[in-house]
Amino acid sequence: MKYFPIYVDLDRQPVLVVGGGEQAAQKVRLLLKTTADITVVAEALEPELEKLVLDERIQAERRNFHPSDIEAKRLVYAATGDEGADRAVADAARARNVPVNVVDRPDVCSFITPAIVDRDPVTVAIGTEGAAPVLAREIKTRLERDLPDGLGRVADRAQRLRARVAQEIGDGRLRRHLWERLLKGRFRERVLASDEAGARQAFEMEVHAVKRDAGRAGHVALIGCGPGDPDLLTLRAQQRLQEADVLVVDRLVNPRILEFARRDAERIFVGKTPGGPATSQDEINRILVHEAEAGKTVARLKGGDPLIFGRAVEEMSALQQAGIACEIVPGITAAHASAASLALPVTSRGLHRKFSVLTGATADGVLDHDWSALARSGEAFAIYMGVRTAPEIRRRLLDADMAADTPVVVVENATLPNERAIATNLGDLAVCMIRKGVRGPAILFVGLDWTDLGLAAPNKVERFFRENIVPFEQRSDASTGTDQKEAVG
Ligand SMILES: C[S@@+](CC[C@H](N)C(=O)[O-])C[C@H]1O[C@@H](n2cnc3c(N)ncnc32)[C@H](O)[C@@H]1O
Repeated sequence: MKYFPIYVDLDRQPVLVVGGGEQAAQKVRLLLKTTADITVVAEALEPELEKLVLDERIQAERRNFHPSDIEAKRLVYAATGDEGADRAVADAARARNVPVNVVDRPDVCSFITPAIVDRDPVTVAIGTEGAAPVLAREIKTRLERDLPDGLGRVADRAQRLRARVAQEIGDGRLRRHLWERLLKGRFRERVLASDEAGARQAFEMEVHAVKRDAGRAGHVALIGCGPGDPDLLTLRAQQRLQEADVLVVDRLVNPRILEFARRDAERIFVGKTPGGPATSQDEINRILVHEAEAGKTVARLKGGDPLIFGRAVEEMSALQQAGIACEIVPGITAAHASAASLALPVTSRGLHRKFSVLTGATADGVLDHDWSALARSGEAFAIYMGVRTAPEIRRRLLDADMAADTPVVVVENATLPNERAIATNLGDLAVCMIRKGVRGPAILFVGLDWTDLGLAAPNKVERFFRENIVPFEQRSDASTGTDQKEAVG
């Protein structure tokens, strides 16, 4: 980030606009949203600016710019439309350490003005550091559509209620809780509907509800954060993240997801690295109960879906025993995200009527699935946590007479920028994992393939088939590129 977004207090502050044409008028229009003291310096002013002078909304000096005009100004805009004249204004401002903006010349600006969504006093500033103004405009259009016109009224109202809220509720955490209820619930809705009596009534009800619940324990939300890409987070998960006082975070949760939480929320990392240091499950349970008993709203963040290989049972049971409310917020599980990313259907009419998920790692190291039944059924399944045990899984399935050419698709880091997918078969699986350096997290799909479904595999899928080993230079298709080289691998 080269430009750091801040809001500058311009209340009755002197701001200089140099130029009297359309460019200057555009800047003045924007500045008139503030209560700044605006002076325009130009030999001639266009009619819109003349009218503003007449209406005493701005002041004008009808002459050429002089460097002394910069003195004591809070901000300066150079908008003459003449490159040399704008450059002279920029040089004078820089010499006096006054922030300057030169229209259409980001290279000589010391500040730039973002696109603004104005719901005064709620304002959203959107900037792309000059890289893609069209993108900024698109975001602005979307926000203009999504943010109700009366949002500023809600904020104004909140401002006026601050003293009353502080007087009613002394505890900071409960006060925050009250604001959440007010600004998301019926109170906000009534203010937006300009229903004064309804808003007053909703306010009193919310204050009463928060006081009533004050002595009660907090609660825990077990939140599925999906496979990694923050775009796959549900709206409910985002809401719970924003409400949380404490975040208890697993290893596979993408740090970018934490940006949805409040900055002041406490973060406790309890990641379990495979084979590495770990916070024990008992300790995690203890943390959840302890934080909730202190009345806090706890967000327990887990990769994928909390109810799929997520140790949810242990945590739910500890919370139930302590009498603490627990909500489950579903997430997109790794197998589904992997399948979607590769456009690989996991069920298909007449071919795959059942789809199962299995774990390839158990606490006691015993892979006690009914491998014979799996091999016999001809049905597809996805293996979680199977990177380390892939050779053993392969051996057990081959011993159970599953065909060595059964398709296997390995998806590593699904939905993340470093996602990789490799199509191989059961016979080649163990060597594939080593040669391709698969470290995980990964999903292994067994018995699924695009060809069987009459579909083409996406281009990004690498291939690893040892049976194709033919010295590369002897192959008739040797000139066709990387895929073939990798097949030789
Ligand atoms: C402890 S389990 C958690 C599963 C999670 N609750 C879910 O629903 O996806 C961890 C395993 O999920 C799989 N996994 C998680 N994130 C993944 C990703 N982005 N790509 C591929 N596999 C992933 C891997 O098999 C990993 O070893």
